[in-house]
Amino acid sequence: MNIFGQLRLGYLVVETERFSDWRRFGRDAIGMHLDDTVPCVMRFRLDDNACRFLLQRGPSEDVTAIGWQVDDHATFDEILARVTGHGVRVAEGTSEEAALRGVERLVRLPGPNGLSQEIFTSPCAAAEPPALAVRGGFVTGEYGMGHVALTAKDPHRVRGYYETVFDARLSDYIDETISGVKFKIRFLRVNSRHHSVAIAAVNRLPINPIRTRVQHLNIQVADLNDLTRSYQRVKALGFDMALGVGQHTNDRELSYYAVTPSGFEWEVGWNPIVVDESTWEPTTYQGISIWGHTPEGQSIIDKLAQFKVGALSLAHREDVVPALAGAGIPDN
Ligand SMILES: [Fe+2]
Repeated sequence: MNIFGQLRLGYLVVETERFSDWRRFGRDAIGMHLDDTVPCVMRFRLDDNACRFLLQRGPSEDVTAIGWQVDDHATFDEILARVTGHGVRVAEGTSEEAALRGVERLVRLPGPNGLSQEIFTSPCAAAEPPALAVRGGFVTGEYGMGHVALTAKDPHRVRGYYETVFDARLSDYIDETISGVKFKIRFLRVNSRHHSVAIAAVNRLPINPIRTRVQHLNIQVADLNDLTRSYQRVKALGFDMALGVGQHTNDRELSYYAVTPSGFEWEVGWNPIVVDESTWEPTTYQGISIWGHTPEGQSIIDKLAQFKVGALSLAHREDVVPALAGAGIPDN
């Protein structure tokens, strides 16, 4: 059974202590619906689903789990059979965890680099329509709510994990030099969204210069005006901009990257291409952008701090869930 096309990015779980900054960032700058009716957590909605972002209190200032919505119970059981068949244990989410995520039931799988992967079939709709500052709404639906970009010391095995567990396909590669360091980024899709997961790695060096498990996440607006208006709100409210507006080489998405209160980046995009499976061929692009995406305000201090994290990462072993990563997938 091949499950490609039968899952989509459904929600993300973030651990943070910075609730008041996140409230301003998520609601006032990005324009999402804020739900703070549940004690001790904060949630954001993009659409009718009760939860797209669950923020829980904790010290890591990072994304801690990715929620994947799968089409049906056959797909759900297939994923569980693959994982347990490789000797890896899964955990049933509690009813409280399911309620917080706005889903009927979930199962948690260990993921590369400590990023849990959660699967569910049935999201719960909220009672009220979302109150969004984004007038044209967010693009969610059958291809999911956006994507996440990870960094890894061993990208072949992270790719192996997503191919083993979710039948992910390689969309393309981008080679990019950032601060004099050569990166290769691998873009994986689990449906016709060009990518739901991107994996960036420093070429041929086992270092990971990013502190967080998720370097950035992406959500998509339907209307170009909402991209520019939210960009202006991010700036006006005093949040840092990592990269100004630009257009990507591979999926042609127009986007900007803001810095979240937790430090990882938040990409808002518009109009990425949708993959046609009958004609698609992976290729390699040079550079992430056709134009724009100019760094705004990143200081030399930030860059030095990144290299310090990179140097420290040499000493850390990243857990790639080897039972599910196989021998790793070599680049095509
Ligand atoms: Fe992105």
